[in-house]
Amino acid sequence: MYSDLMNWAQSVQREELAAWIAAHRENPPGALFEAADALRRRVYGDRVFFRGLIEFSNICARGCRYCGLNASQTSLHRYRMTEAEIVCAVSAGYRRGFRSFVLQSGEDPYYQSPRLVSVVAQIKEQHPDCAVTLSAGEMSEALYRALYDAGADRYLLRHETADAEHYAGLHPAPMSFQHRMKCLRTLKAVGFATGAGFMVGSPGQTDERLAGDLLFLRAFQPHMAGIGPFIPAKGTAFEAEPAGSANLTVMMVALARLMLPLATLPATTALGALGGRDRALLAGANVLMPDLTPPHYRADYKLYDGKAEVDAQVDQMVREVEALGLTADFSRGDPLG
Ligand code: 5AD
Repeated sequence: MYSDLMNWAQSVQREELAAWIAAHRENPPGALFEAADALRRRVYGDRVFFRGLIEFSNICARGCRYCGLNASQTSLHRYRMTEAEIVCAVSAGYRRGFRSFVLQSGEDPYYQSPRLVSVVAQIKEQHPDCAVTLSAGEMSEALYRALYDAGADRYLLRHETADAEHYAGLHPAPMSFQHRMKCLRTLKAVGFATGAGFMVGSPGQTDERLAGDLLFLRAFQPHMAGIGPFIPAKGTAFEAEPAGSANLTVMMVALARLMLPLATLPATTALGALGGRDRALLAGANVLMPDLTPPHYRADYKLYDGKAEVDAQVDQMVREVEALGLTADFSRGDPLG
């Protein structure tokens, strides 16, 4: 029975949750994973939604201290796919059966503009039966609105941490926690199915802050939540910091499932890089995002080290899902909440 744990997760307060995380982080109770899995199956059945990820530009104006694409990474080879290349990559994915795409980039000023609106419009014109999710950072309300009006369905903008002081430690000015939150509220108000989320094990994180991240998700009720481990990236201020724990990440996914019964939750690429993908899919996660970026660009989208080796391998992911007794689903896979 998952209802006791779900009721607890839906009402627990910050201090108690932080203490619970501290007490169980080394050895999470199996009942948590079983409850999250049972709830996911009751709401979504055994389907795992496949989203084709297209990393269309690694150019970024921001200085996020953890991110391998941040603006001060001078040795990184930068690329930007053209509008036609992006639309072609979607069409290629369409032919492979994908009906859900995630267009992700750094905060590239070239595409934080009507050009991205045009890309979305072209995709929706050619493939009106597809869901388009954007993950391209903070923009003005007017631009978010134009993207939505062009047909973009969903927008991912991780909150990264729900603690303003922690946020400031990870993100140099002019980024601010207040602006991040404003963007998230705007995305929801504009009408996007909105995704938030955070890294597990980012420098400066504490159990109290992790509890705060979960409680932020519970209060904000995003339609999607991406939760992945921090993985150090070469050349960044945090290159020598330890990676987040895969076990703790899976525990956070399970808790997030109990707090967001209707949301879609990915087993993230970063968690996959640490070998935790299967466990997440059996603990509440129900989305996989294979990388459909054209191979000659893929190696340069280095959010963190070791990522470039994580190949698309759609067929292998399908087999992996089936081996878990789940079904690969290539439909739009709209979040229910
Ligand atoms: N380790 C793990 N995740 C990272 N991201 C960025 N850099 C890293 C890293 N070093 C995540 C952020 C961002 C998403 C696109 O990738 O949470 O929102």
